[in-house]
Amino acid sequence: MQDRETYTHGHHESVVEQHAMRTAGEAAAFFKPYLRPDMALLDLGCGPGSITVGLAEWLSDGSVVGVELDGGVLEAGREQAREMGLSNVEFQVASVYELPFEDETFDAVYAHQVLQHLGQPADALTEARRVLKPGGVIGVREVDWGSAIVWPEMSEITRFLDIYHRVTARNGGDADVGRRLRALFNGAGFTDVRVGAGIWSFGTMELTKQWGESWARRVLESNIADRAVEYGIASKQELEEASAGWLRWSVEPDAYFSFSHGEAVGWKAA
Ligand SMILES: C[S@@+](CC[C@H](N)C(=O)[O-])C[C@H]1O[C@@H](n2cnc3c(N)ncnc32)[C@H](O)[C@@H]1O
Repeated sequence: MQDRETYTHGHHESVVEQHAMRTAGEAAAFFKPYLRPDMALLDLGCGPGSITVGLAEWLSDGSVVGVELDGGVLEAGREQAREMGLSNVEFQVASVYELPFEDETFDAVYAHQVLQHLGQPADALTEARRVLKPGGVIGVREVDWGSAIVWPEMSEITRFLDIYHRVTARNGGDADVGRRLRALFNGAGFTDVRVGAGIWSFGTMELTKQWGESWARRVLESNIADRAVEYGIASKQELEEASAGWLRWSVEPDAYFSFSHGEAVGWKAA
């Protein structure tokens, strides 16, 4: 394991269960128009692999490899692939900085919510470009927590947003990296770069309950809690207040939360 940064969330079940709800249909919709069923695709930092298996369904005549630093979380992806009867997807432990593949192996590279956790996202994109074939396409979606809209305003959640930004930065990441994707793609030498935005919004009782309850747990139980205290960014009591704030928000009939994600597509020149 390299030591360039610390993965902010860790793999506590409160984190993984939230990530495992993600689907290719939602998280990679912006990238689908550029994919063909016979492509070989690499999914960087695939986590529990729920998006990876969806990509494998799309690439029915091709193949998908998911790579991830944490071997434990990959089991979820392997199990889901078995349940879905997919034989064109595999999962490997690897760092996005040192991919265990020859130059020009893949037709497509995809990454979802990974660059925000990296101290050297530019290095990761350069490595991704190395394993892309000439003419290959890359699609990346990354959050921009700085675009968060929370209603009603609650001081505990405002404080949480500050804690989240500062813990991510201290870990070596950038919680607002979504706004930098065009710059990062241009810097890594991708061509015909195009960046749009996807919005996550939570504005029904079911969604605010699920989002608020998830953060209420994560702020107390995941790595964010430990690091916030260790770094002196928040006290245990402040985290408990943030957690209570999320719970209060989650059942507020007027509650609304949204934030935007940069969605970038680019090519390795043919
Ligand atoms: C927020 S999760 C996203 C997982 C998945 N892409 C998704 O959206 O559901 C970020 C993942 O990146 C992984 N990760 C962080 N740094 C990494 C690195 N240097 N190489 C490979 N994976 C890394 C973490 O272990 C974590 O599982």
